[in-house]
Amino acid sequence: MNLYIGIDLGTSSLKGLLVNEEGEILRTASSDYEVYYPENGWSEQDPADWVQAMNGVLAELSRGREQEIRGISLGGQMHGLVALDAGGEVIRPCILWNDGRTEAQTAWLNESVGKEKLSALTGNIAFAGFTAPKLLWMREREPDNFARIRKIMLPKDYLVYMLTGNFSCDYSDASGMLLLDVEHRCWSREMCEICGVKEDWLPELHESAEIVGAVKESYRLPNAVVTAGAGDNAAAAIGTGTVRNGDCNISLGTSGTVFIAQDSYSVDSRNALHSFAHANGHYHLMGCILSAASCRMWWLEDILGTNDYGKDEEEIAAAEDTGVIFLPYLMGERSPHNDTRIRGAFIGLSADTTRAQMSRAVMEGVTFALKDCLEIAKANGLEIRSTNLCGGGARSRVWRQICADILEMPVRILTTEQGPGYGAAILAMVGTGAYGSVKEATDRIVRTSETILPDPEKYDTYRKRYEIFKKLYPLLKQLQD
Ligand code: XUL
Repeated sequence: MNLYIGIDLGTSSLKGLLVNEEGEILRTASSDYEVYYPENGWSEQDPADWVQAMNGVLAELSRGREQEIRGISLGGQMHGLVALDAGGEVIRPCILWNDGRTEAQTAWLNESVGKEKLSALTGNIAFAGFTAPKLLWMREREPDNFARIRKIMLPKDYLVYMLTGNFSCDYSDASGMLLLDVEHRCWSREMCEICGVKEDWLPELHESAEIVGAVKESYRLPNAVVTAGAGDNAAAAIGTGTVRNGDCNISLGTSGTVFIAQDSYSVDSRNALHSFAHANGHYHLMGCILSAASCRMWWLEDILGTNDYGKDEEEIAAAEDTGVIFLPYLMGERSPHNDTRIRGAFIGLSADTTRAQMSRAVMEGVTFALKDCLEIAKANGLEIRSTNLCGGGARSRVWRQICADILEMPVRILTTEQGPGYGAAILAMVGTGAYGSVKEATDRIVRTSETILPDPEKYDTYRKRYEIFKKLYPLLKQLQD
């Protein structure tokens, strides 16, 4: 039998799926690793931890079926900077997508180079998590490390390099570096000059389903090749069948994203949404909030000291609504505020506020922040009538309904909530010829398991609360500046 492995290199864990040609999931495996927060607002990981996790997951998924594995592909956390020296060694820990240390470099790019120029060259303005500001930070703050750079890679491309020995990147993930001319799908010479990046530091660019190499012998997967893969959001969009113009996918992972597939390249009027390449050869617009399911994890595990998500969920479902509001800015915020300093808050607490009400407010606050992204898309004339939902948060029945009610649209749940891994497996199938195109594959194998309809009786309350939510960011900002 021909089998395929899709890997999601996430922020809290690496997850893998073994699937057959019909898209049935035969095995799953995952391995957790640490995120390091060396300073407030910074976040880093050790690429060696990813490699260890990947090796374990691959061994578990392939055990006894090594000969049958035909293709492997990866979807990975975007924007992270992995820098290698002349000997192929990692120079410093990877600076992650939700790291806020580049406030000064981001401001320099947006103000001195100018948003207009950045947008003309790359389709995007600078956001603190993007790769280019991190390179500027390294040049200024760690000149010795910067001088050693010979290759720069995105997180999943480092794993592809470990698997195949080849140095590659796909267009969707490359879009988030602020070094790619997204519209024309090539590196921007001018942006590279601005950031002091030499062209031979950059990987070769590929479409996501293109084969980039065979798996090294040491892995003992003799018939497996690796395709370029995708940024995790583009991979998730493939995994949820978000491939037609205007299709929307929302991911409730460590980050929260609103991903809108587009047939052709476009930018929104103020570059508030990211304009990136899709993994199906087309494009997408995306809003990204830095803390989504991670807020729920923080609230339950770090603050309440429990991991009984089921019990909490039961209590939330039964809790009376008292209008507590949560602002999810635990790591600052990307879309739409582009603000590394802002921090979260609970508003409207009273002596009789219960834990369940605060737990519900966490889910609602994250969903309001996603609504901020959706509102920008709508203001730019995009009509979004329904959405797919994936990511760990999508496992929660209560949160699914909250999404439908706050976003006022039907929410589709797929047969797996593991969007990026499933999308990566599809890219491996397409790359090895099991399907003629990404669209053919998604039409055949991506299936909806349930559609959650919004409850119009909730609209009025949530609209009023969203109006308050919107007023809170500028107020909080005043306090923190
Ligand atoms: C997208 C982004 C996040 C990461 C998380 O721009 O930064 O969604 O990809 O994995």
